[in-house]
Amino acid sequence: MSVTDVPLDALPAIPRPGRVLLTTPEHFEVAYVINPHMAGNIGDVDQTRARTQWEALRDVYERLGVEVSTLEGASGLPDMVFCANQTLPYLTPGGERGAVLSRMHAPQRKAEVDHYAEFFQAQGYETHGLDPDLPGDFEGMGDAIWHPGRYLLWGGYGYRTDRAVYERLSDKMGFPVVPLALTDPEFYHLDTCFCPLDEDTVLIYPGAFQEDGLEEIRSRFVRVLEAPEDESRELFACNAHSPDGQHVIIQQGCTVTNGLLREAGYEVIELDTSEYLKSGGSVFCMKVMFW
Ligand code: ARG
Repeated sequence: MSVTDVPLDALPAIPRPGRVLLTTPEHFEVAYVINPHMAGNIGDVDQTRARTQWEALRDVYERLGVEVSTLEGASGLPDMVFCANQTLPYLTPGGERGAVLSRMHAPQRKAEVDHYAEFFQAQGYETHGLDPDLPGDFEGMGDAIWHPGRYLLWGGYGYRTDRAVYERLSDKMGFPVVPLALTDPEFYHLDTCFCPLDEDTVLIYPGAFQEDGLEEIRSRFVRVLEAPEDESRELFACNAHSPDGQHVIIQQGCTVTNGLLREAGYEVIELDTSEYLKSGGSVFCMKVMFW
């Protein structure tokens, strides 16, 4: 893997994506258990509240000037609303837009990917699945997160994505990947414990990483904000999202985390995503950014 010692500012600059895709929640429910947060919540989603919470998220993106696209959720795919997971959209330094299609780990979620492939193709994106000879799974932007403003990928692995997938993607597409082992089943996707806010700053829950992973993070971000354990585990504090490097959209009630964010100069926008927390997801999982 071209894990790099090249300093960040020597990597190609990539503009931040300005568009967001959201998937409508009419078919969202907790229908099976594929992560520890879902246990005990089967059948517990309140549809009306889920719709209201989703609309509030959509309204925030619109208010912030992000162009919103929506895809209709499909019946029988209750997790399709978590649209960070089915693809990894990219923009190359040469200006090509594309999307790597996921190979979902859970059999219950595999059929979601085609819906996103169609969406991105209609946007003029080149879409590619993983090479058939490559074993292992890949859950898109749940685990693979671009460094804001740079052609560098942070790659979480261990629960939903296999490390070898990053080696192949990196070889084929020419971007460096910093692999990060995940070590706690409640933080099963990288986006549950790692939230880059801008080129210099990341919000993390350090307890979800190994020491060498933390060193990688600390060596590439100037500022590392650490969310406390209770807010990270129960409120998904690190599943926040900053679409612009100024505002941070986050589950409401993350008092300590929000203090750190404000002190660091961000404007915090608190939203209630409690229906989605029942399924092990919050803000970051409910959207995918693209160019
Ligand atoms: N119930 C979904 C699953 O376990 C939640 C996915 C949340 N997405 C995320 N990017 N963390 O697959």
